[in-house]
Amino acid sequence: MKTTTETRRRFLFQATSSVGLMLTAPMIASIVSGCETDETAAPDLSGLTVVVADYPELSVVGGITTVILEGLNNSDPVFISRIDVNTYAVFSAICTHQGCQVFDIDQQADSVECPCHNARYAKSDGSVVQQPDSGEATDLPRFPSTFNSSTGILTINP
Ligand code: FES
Repeated sequence: MKTTTETRRRFLFQATSSVGLMLTAPMIASIVSGCETDETAAPDLSGLTVVVADYPELSVVGGITTVILEGLNNSDPVFISRIDVNTYAVFSAICTHQGCQVFDIDQQADSVECPCHNARYAKSDGSVVQQPDSGEATDLPRFPSTFNSSTGILTINP
């Protein structure tokens, strides 16, 4: 079985021969390598990354922000909350009561509030601290994350 590289090389050879072009071996190698991608490599699902410095709200412990990351939380918003110098919590920003987005962020408060029926969730971990006006909410789903203090990159696992 021929590899993709061999197939490309043969194609380039035949294509250049048929039109009478003269390419040197290094030129052909350059063209082939420029076309090469590792089509058999599995996508990197080891985590999504966030550069924390891109979010000024996270510059202080207790800060919180919302982000949308493709492939995380069905691409719905998530909270990133700085709970210690080098520790962050990541949890869904979709209310577990009836699905409204929780976006009422008071940086000074210890919790965030859903605007629909006033459920409140702890900024530190997304746990329910106040049930909605009627019905019941459960804790916001969390996503494991690790922070590299050397690079300032937070890696989140879907
Ligand atoms: S949808 Fe959030 S409290 Fe009802």
